[in-house]
Amino acid sequence: MPEKLAIVRTVAELRHAVAAHKAAGRTVGLIPTMGALHEGHVSLVAGALARGDAPVASIFVNPTQFGPNEDFAAYPRDEAGDFAKLEAAGCRIVFAPAKEEMYPAPMLTTVKVTGVTDGLCGPFRPGHFDGVATVVTKLLMMAMPDRGYFGEKDFQQLQVIKAMVRDLAMPIEIVGMPTVREPDGLAMSSRNRYLSPAERTTALQLHRQMTAVAAAVRDGKASCTAVTTAASQALLAAGFDKVEYLTVVDAESLQPLDKVAGPARIIAATRLGRTRLIDNIAVD
Ligand code: PAF
Repeated sequence: MPEKLAIVRTVAELRHAVAAHKAAGRTVGLIPTMGALHEGHVSLVAGALARGDAPVASIFVNPTQFGPNEDFAAYPRDEAGDFAKLEAAGCRIVFAPAKEEMYPAPMLTTVKVTGVTDGLCGPFRPGHFDGVATVVTKLLMMAMPDRGYFGEKDFQQLQVIKAMVRDLAMPIEIVGMPTVREPDGLAMSSRNRYLSPAERTTALQLHRQMTAVAAAVRDGKASCTAVTTAASQALLAAGFDKVEYLTVVDAESLQPLDKVAGPARIIAATRLGRTRLIDNIAVD
């Protein structure tokens, strides 16, 4: 039987519950989420347990990281289901605050990370990374964990958070965990539930095309631009509505590359019907 999950709604309760674990000599790992949990989130809890951390998850659909025409209102919410998954995974505390607890007063402060936010999703989602950096800073300050766990699926977000923690000298280790995929290769995402059955079949092409790009880039015969352009065209021909970007970038700076000479990522954002699908894979 997994130990009972403590459900806390206020910052004071969260700090009290975290302090009890620290007083018992345990390290603490924070897993920030927006709920609608899937196997990818469960793997973050497993990552914390594997490092000996008491896992503390947060569930908060953060309004400040959604644009005016994005899916904040429609974003899937299933608190009871999420609590059950967290408890079964061995999570010890879940912080599920109301909006008034996270933002009790109009915010006069924004955390803004530059450079790694300039390209990729940055221009397509203005203000998104400011919303993410600010809420993650608040969550880290509220829980004061030893480690924070984030999925590599949101690779640009992971680099933004690593840069922020480094620049602000936060005494917290950021751990990136590998993307968890469906058996057919589709990266797990809370937004996959927006896909119709036909779109779900089409969606597979994203990982397939990216895998083909990875093979061609490793092969080194064609330029990155040539292979990513061909892959974008193949996605549009397969039924994708838009390829916002499909590119090869340096794995840390996220600057575009035309030849790979060190750790790199193939990274993409696409639109299929009402669903925005992102993915990335490593090429070393
Ligand atoms: O990746 C997410 O689910 C969110 O961007 C995060 C990190 C929980 C911040 O709201």
